[in-house]
Amino acid sequence: MKPALKTIGVATTGGDAPGMNAAIRAVVRAGVAYGMRVFGIQRGWTGLANGEIEEMFSRSVSGIINRGGTILHTVRCPEFKRRSFQKKCVDVLSEFEIEGLVIIGGDGSFHAAHELRTHWNIPVAGIPATIDNDISGTDYSIGFDTAINTALDAIDRIRDTAFSHERVFVVEVMGRERGFLALEVGIAGGADVILIPEIKMPLPQILKTLREKKLEGRKSFVVVTAEGAWPAEDLSQKLRRATGFETRVSVLGHLQRGGAPTAFSRILASHLGVAAVKKLAEGEKDIMVGMISNKVVSTPLSSTWTNKKKIDKDLYKLISVLEG
Ligand code: F6P
Repeated sequence: MKPALKTIGVATTGGDAPGMNAAIRAVVRAGVAYGMRVFGIQRGWTGLANGEIEEMFSRSVSGIINRGGTILHTVRCPEFKRRSFQKKCVDVLSEFEIEGLVIIGGDGSFHAAHELRTHWNIPVAGIPATIDNDISGTDYSIGFDTAINTALDAIDRIRDTAFSHERVFVVEVMGRERGFLALEVGIAGGADVILIPEIKMPLPQILKTLREKKLEGRKSFVVVTAEGAWPAEDLSQKLRRATGFETRVSVLGHLQRGGAPTAFSRILASHLGVAAVKKLAEGEKDIMVGMISNKVVSTPLSSTWTNKKKIDKDLYKLISVLEG
C-alpha cells in the first residue's frame, strides 16, 4: 500500500509514562515498514518550535523497549495555546517536510494535537500514554499498568511497617483529578480505605470504618488516597487528632512514573504505535488509537476528552465487600 504520507514526526509530550519508549520504537519501525521517513522530535512542542528534530531509523530505537521515561524527552508546554507558537511549530514542520505527527501523551497533548489539525491542517494520530488512565477511547493507557505495579510494591512494603508498629499509614498516589490509579492500587493492595476525587468520602465515614475495624481487633491500617482526593498529610493529622492512632504518611510521588515498563505496558505500546502509523498511512487525520476489549480501535481526538471516562463502579463497590 502506498501510504497517504511520506514523512511523519513522532513526539512525546506532557508527563512521562513507562512504555513511551516502546511506543516510539513501534512508531519508528512501523513507519519504516510502510516506506515512510520518520523524524523524532525532542522535548515535545518546545523542541518542535525550536527545530530539535532528527531522522530516526530502525536502529535508532534498538535497546529501548525495556527503558522507562522517554528517549525523546518531554516538556509541559503552556505556550502551545498561543497561535504564534503554533505557527512556529507548523513552519518547522514544513521546513523538515514533515506531513503528519504521532503524538504520544495524555489529555493536554491531544488538545494541542487537535488544534494542529483543525487550525493548521496537519494530520495527527494520538497514542494514549499516562499513568492516570483518564483518557476515553481506550481501556488502558500506556504506563498505567506499570504504575499500578510500582505503587503496589511500595504499599506491600509499607504494610509490613504498618503491621510492625501498629500504625495507620496514609499513602498518597498520583491523580490530581481522577482516581483510576488510586482505585486499582487500593484494591490490589488491600487498602482499608480508598479515596478518589470522583466520590467524596466525609471524615466521619472514614473514622467509622477505622473504629469498627479496631473494635474487631485490627491494629494497623492502610489508607490509599489520590492526591486530588485528600492530601495525605492533612488526612493523617485529622485521623491522629480524632482517633489517637499513631499515623504516618507516605507520598509515592514521581517514583510511580519511572521504571521499566511491565509486559502489559510494552505490548500495549507496541500495538498502539503500529496502529497509529497505520491510521496515518490510511489517510486518517484527527484520531487517537486505543485498545477496547482487546481490540485496537480509533476515536476522534476530541471525543477522548469530551466523553469523560467513567470510574468502574463495580470495582468501587468491591471496597465495602472486601474491607474485613
Ligand atoms: O502524568 C500525570 C500526572 O502523573 C498526575 O497524576 C500528576 O498530578 C502530575 O502528572 C504531576 O506532574 P508533574 O510531573 O509535571 O509535576
